[in-house]
Amino acid sequence: MSDAIAPFDPTERNITEYKQSHSDLRAAGPLVRVDAPAGGSAWIVTEDALARQVLTDPRFVKDPAMAPLDWDRQMAGLERPAAEQASLTTADGPDHAQLRKAHAPLFSARGISRYYDRMLVIARQLLADAAESVPAGTPVDLTLDFTTRYPVAVVCDVLGIPPENVDRTMQACRDMFNPDPAAFGAAFATFAELADAALEAGDGVAAELRDRLPADTSQEDLRYFIFLIIFAGQPTMDSSLGYLLAGLLENGVPGTERKVLEDFVQTALRRQPPAPFTLWRFTATEVEVAGVTLPERTPVLVDLFGITVAPDRPEGPDLVFGAGPHYCIGAQLAMFEMRALAEVFAENHAGARLGVPYAELRQTDIGGTQGSKLTALPVVFRE
Ligand code: HEM
Repeated sequence: MSDAIAPFDPTERNITEYKQSHSDLRAAGPLVRVDAPAGGSAWIVTEDALARQVLTDPRFVKDPAMAPLDWDRQMAGLERPAAEQASLTTADGPDHAQLRKAHAPLFSARGISRYYDRMLVIARQLLADAAESVPAGTPVDLTLDFTTRYPVAVVCDVLGIPPENVDRTMQACRDMFNPDPAAFGAAFATFAELADAALEAGDGVAAELRDRLPADTSQEDLRYFIFLIIFAGQPTMDSSLGYLLAGLLENGVPGTERKVLEDFVQTALRRQPPAPFTLWRFTATEVEVAGVTLPERTPVLVDLFGITVAPDRPEGPDLVFGAGPHYCIGAQLAMFEMRALAEVFAENHAGARLGVPYAELRQTDIGGTQGSKLTALPVVFRE
């Protein structure tokens, strides 16, 4: 057991500092045993090839029913088992493949590109609002509202949730981290209403998804699938937009051509991978991997952050959005959103500057398997 490594402790640090535990994990080997936040031990994969092997091996399952029996399920942030609530994040094998097939064309580059012009409109409006919210020469902190509002407004637009619901969608996303069970329950009730509103409006991806799923899909399942699309990407988008904007303000946008923007977005994601780890996987049976025998119900994570930022990372695709059958379904949505923001920033706010020197920006994480985000991003839009 690598006692000194604390991958799940919260930290606060400078924007240029990586969380030390990622390099500690890497130095400890390709598969490292650590204390799990919910009790007992867990294993973390720190090497690219081994990560891809684990992420495509059907003996490593997502179903929370296979979590260690003594885990505190709430502390581990586990969803209900697949038998109770099948979803992209709890189902495995053919059940998962069937769900992916229904989602795939809607979230492909082609499917999402239909919404790019709307993303530009939303980014223009929200950045203009932020710029106007303070007098000239005064910084506005974009992490207080903008980095949450923009991705929520976009996902509402894509799903077909009427725009007047953006504020309560933001609140529901925030309440998912609220320790008060009442607030958490209220957030779930809100997500159900939002899903119903999108299905009723009928002019977005929510309704298209319903039409692509088997006709006997229950309303409860549909609501859960739509909830996942709203919420699953929220913390990572919030975080990645902060780093993207900080980079834009520090270095400027190198151009507005599509390829230049795409490269800019990819570089930003690789420099600060927003998801530090995959979600939990569990061994469905005894598995021998990297010379270690893992008994059934062993919890396993992949260190996406550490592998991506490693100086000797192999050429080729990165692991920012994972790999294998559970590869992020929202990857194209995320990258289009970031590209639209960079484009609007270059076009309309090239004169904006950081309110503090870049090197003084701070980042923090709440611990567990959650990623880091900027503590503040003060921006002066006009002098
Ligand atoms: C920069 C932003 C994002 C990052 C870095 C990110 C990262 C990831 C990663 C690493 C996984 C795989 C987890 C695993 O294998 O255990 C994942 C899965 C997922 N992501 Fe994202 N994500 C982002 C944005 C989004 C957005 C905007 C959505 C909204 C559609 C989304 C929805 C999902 C869903 C539903 C899954 C589960 C897919 C499955 O298990 O089949 N993500 N994401």
